[in-house]
Amino acid sequence: MTVTTLSPRTHADLRDDAPDPVGPLLPVVGADLHAPVVHGGSVPYAGLDVAATAPALTAVADRISTVLSHYGSAHRGSGYASRVTTDALEHARATIGRCLGARPDDDVVLTRNTTDAITLLSSALPAGARVVVLDIEHHANLLPWRRHEVRTVPARATLAATIDAVEEALASSPTTLLAVTGASNVTGEVLPIAELAGIAHRHGARISIDAAQLAPHRRIDIAELGIDYLAVSGHKLYAPFGAGALIGRHDWLEAAPAYLPGGGAVREVTTDSVSWASSPQRHEGGTPNVLGAVALATALQVLHDLPAGAREDHESALLHRLDAGLRSIPGVTPLLVWPDAPDRVGVASFVVEGYDAAYVSCVLSAEHGIGVRDGRFCAHPLLARLSPDASAVRASIGVGTTSEHVDRLIDAVRGLTTSGSRWTYESTAGGWTPVPETRDLDPLGLGTTAGSPSPCETPV
Ligand SMILES: Cc1ncc(COP(=O)(O)O)c(C=O)c1O
Repeated sequence: MTVTTLSPRTHADLRDDAPDPVGPLLPVVGADLHAPVVHGGSVPYAGLDVAATAPALTAVADRISTVLSHYGSAHRGSGYASRVTTDALEHARATIGRCLGARPDDDVVLTRNTTDAITLLSSALPAGARVVVLDIEHHANLLPWRRHEVRTVPARATLAATIDAVEEALASSPTTLLAVTGASNVTGEVLPIAELAGIAHRHGARISIDAAQLAPHRRIDIAELGIDYLAVSGHKLYAPFGAGALIGRHDWLEAAPAYLPGGGAVREVTTDSVSWASSPQRHEGGTPNVLGAVALATALQVLHDLPAGAREDHESALLHRLDAGLRSIPGVTPLLVWPDAPDRVGVASFVVEGYDAAYVSCVLSAEHGIGVRDGRFCAHPLLARLSPDASAVRASIGVGTTSEHVDRLIDAVRGLTTSGSRWTYESTAGGWTPVPETRDLDPLGLGTTAGSPSPCETPV
């Protein structure tokens, strides 16, 4: 494959006031990936879609490969590999709790992802539970609650007014649970967790935090912040091996019906009765995802061991660069919910006047080897409010992101708005596709015909 050498100096570098280059904070698998581009050859892939799913940390991949060589059944055998694997699983569970600041008596339930963790918590709420949510949430933190009585508080013009509205909602009628995100997956804006926890507890409610987007970017201390339940996804935490976790208070989980009834979730079964195991095992029926748990624990430990502020400094240098670059392009509008959010993780959504978001993302991929997300980001209510056509482009930053990725994105969006695209594209049922499609999109040898239409999909 021909490799197109990128100009080592981008437009940003050529300016006198060009900011310093920023390298990756941690090594990730696939950092040397090249992406084919439609005009021929390939360029280093700029993966700016880590808010959707993040590459594995190299440390995670190394750990998985070590554990794999000792892999056996967890909690199901006395052979050497089973003993080692059982220890690996329980050590991972303890590490996940410790790195997230869990209280000693909190449960750490291993799940598939955040959606699964929140759905499990929803199944464990006491009978007659009443839940309060904000309307900025990801669907994973909206839909699972709908089996209960849910009140949705619309975000107000400022974060301060939104917090007041949450307090009014909780004061006006008894609430069991306040379920909020730690950081918006659309705008990256961070919510004041300790303040919201204080409000919830003052009004006799508990608080659960959807930390899918917050945990990859900030250190979280469950006990210190007063969080009752926290949900995370391994694949957003540089541990894409299919595990997530729900961490929190034991009592509701202990009183709840088994989330996944089956082997491992019980103490004793007869033909007509069952004695359930305690939580967390009660909710983890079936053979556990040991490698997923080990991956998640390893990633959390590596992030936890970073010097204080290292993640924030790396990310804020890149986010400022991204924000400033986007703001400097006429016709580009960044999306934010509030003018007064004091903190924001490395997520930036924007609309480009005159261009369909899916088209922009298709051009970025096909011509520039840049991966971003477009669409409604599984947050339909929020996008309906923020964007004129209810869709946007989202770029997101992680520990493997560099200033070259960000500068390339800015240059590419600027080029599109000033000169248009350099290739032709067709709108198909599946989204936009380059015509002709010249890229080989089947490096794994799965049988996709090179050159066949390969629409850039429009996820919702
Ligand atoms: C804020 C937020 N919550 C929940 C989820 C769902 O995560 P998962 O797909 O890993 O269950 C996402 C995924 O994008 C998210 O961004």
